[in-house]
Amino acid sequence: QIVPPQPLIVKDQDAEVEDGKKKVTVLFGTQTGTAEGFAKALVEEAKTRYDKATFKVVDLDDYGADDDEYEEKMKEESLALFFLATYGDGEPTDNSARFYKWFTEGKERGEWLQNMKYGVFGLGNRQYEHFNKIAKVVDDILTEQGAKRLVPVGLGDDDQCIEDDFTAWRELVWPELDQLLRDEDDATTVSTPYTAAVLEYRVVIYDPENAPVEDKNWSNANGHTIYDAQHPCRSNVVVRKELHTPASDRSCTHLEFDIAGTGLSYETGDHVGVYCENLDEVVEEALRLLGLSPDTYFSVHADNEDGTPLGGSSLPPPFPPCTLRTALARYADLLSSPKKSALLALAAHAYDHTEADQLRHLASPAGKDEYAQWIVASQRSLLEVMAEFPSVMPPLGVFFAAIAPRLQPRFYSISSSPRMAPSRIHVTCALVYEKTPTGRIHEGVCSTWMKNSMPSEKSHDCSWAPIFVRQSNFKLPSDTKVPIIMIGPGTGLAPFRGFLQERLSLKEAGADLGPSVLFFGCRNRKMDYIYEDELNHFVDNGALSELVVAFSREGPTKEYVQHKMMEKASDIWNMISQGGYLYVCGDAKGMARDVHRTLHTILQEQGCLDSSKAESMVKNLQTMGRYLRDVW
Ligand code: 2AM
Repeated sequence: QIVPPQPLIVKDQDAEVEDGKKKVTVLFGTQTGTAEGFAKALVEEAKTRYDKATFKVVDLDDYGADDDEYEEKMKEESLALFFLATYGDGEPTDNSARFYKWFTEGKERGEWLQNMKYGVFGLGNRQYEHFNKIAKVVDDILTEQGAKRLVPVGLGDDDQCIEDDFTAWRELVWPELDQLLRDEDDATTVSTPYTAAVLEYRVVIYDPENAPVEDKNWSNANGHTIYDAQHPCRSNVVVRKELHTPASDRSCTHLEFDIAGTGLSYETGDHVGVYCENLDEVVEEALRLLGLSPDTYFSVHADNEDGTPLGGSSLPPPFPPCTLRTALARYADLLSSPKKSALLALAAHAYDHTEADQLRHLASPAGKDEYAQWIVASQRSLLEVMAEFPSVMPPLGVFFAAIAPRLQPRFYSISSSPRMAPSRIHVTCALVYEKTPTGRIHEGVCSTWMKNSMPSEKSHDCSWAPIFVRQSNFKLPSDTKVPIIMIGPGTGLAPFRGFLQERLSLKEAGADLGPSVLFFGCRNRKMDYIYEDELNHFVDNGALSELVVAFSREGPTKEYVQHKMMEKASDIWNMISQGGYLYVCGDAKGMARDVHRTLHTILQEQGCLDSSKAESMVKNLQTMGRYLRDVW
């Protein structure tokens, strides 16, 4: 006897139903827009698959105005998908910080999320120690609190191809959603493969006679009292100095932004976000490849003329009307490697079929290895790729929506203290200048801009940039008598220069200072020992008790800050035992990781602890906010 197949679909009684439609909430924590893009792309496709469901994409910051609202909303979710990026030293993105704090530190709630089914996709980079920490933590807590995990947490790795990781995770999600969101009647419908439409803005080109006057100051730069990434503050460069000696073959710039009278303020240890422009030659190359006039004056719109939204909800926010030259300089990331979605958009606008096929192949699962080699490992920039496919002529609306990502602000640890420099923000920035595997010289957009900038002390026609301050928790202890240990080789010195300015100023105001030691490292005393005189001055004036410098390229063997730490192991132990704070700033992939191991060894040896006790002591210091890292 043939047993008829069991129905594939088990109808889910719990899924919340609204107007006969089941509700799905997609939440994102994004820093540069990738998590948001994935969230929206998933929803675009989901809409075509499930017409009996409604989807809502929500920025985690907008999800709840306060903790109570977060709780209320979460309780109501029956189906939620999270896209969560991990940023910096295992931190949440700015827009998810409040949610993350509430969700992870909140009161014991028990299994209050039993009504919820969920999936989490994380965005991170395997090169970093806390790979996808935020996604993993949220995924664990959701389960702990009773929610039902539909798919394993997705661990997107930006070091390789995060789009592939997303695609793979999405393929796991569909069968689950099929179960939850399709009716029995749909059970037999075979879904047709979905191909994402190439995103495109509506573009208005102005006749040169009637073009509005371009806002030379960035339209969003001024007129706000609260500055943030969307409302930066125009500020002039007052001072620019080279910090390396002529003997060095590298460069490091000291820059001072003038914030007098702007209302912009900062605290020691904060970061400054800087919007910069692409170099002229980079813009020229882009203009050549696009084959359009630099003076084309245009605006981009994410809606139709009647105001209805265009192309679903996935379009990045438009920028103000301007000339093509300005748009390429300010808004387009032209030097990063193109994403696979960008290759597909290029393919859609290639006149030559062979070129279109090659581009599609690179973006396809079959072309995975070529993409990894020819694009990622070769660090091929968008412009280099476009130069290889000369028949590609994308229209402006496609170029800015789907091909060139938005140029992101760059963040720097502020190297001054407002107690010393209330009307200035100091930045210490190493020049990025390297040869890529294709032989291209990669010049860092912002570091090159800073190196070439014109300070107002030299010319009235000085350089300026839109900037904003991002608060950090990298702060001195409130009690000045608490011992501090600072570790910052290279430009990792930046926030400590601010700390020491602050301590000097506090001392001059009569404060009692506890002991402090700074471990600095550079290659060679005669080349890159930045701020040497100032550091000695801090020692002479008692703001710094001890300065320890490791020179890595002077002697026959490499001397790094962690080697010097081992030499001072008992001092470090004593300072920590007296309640001291430990700060690390600089490169996350090498230095901070090695310093972390060294700290562990020091605690183990000096405290006669076994490895796991030393480990929990390090963890404790971190939880108490006494071991702080500002790493990149
Ligand atoms: P190097 O370039 O000679 O290897 C600032 O960049 C200083 O940090 C340089 O002296 C650099 O040395 C050193 N540095 C490089 N890798 C490091 C690591 N893993 N730990 C500590 N210092 C490191």
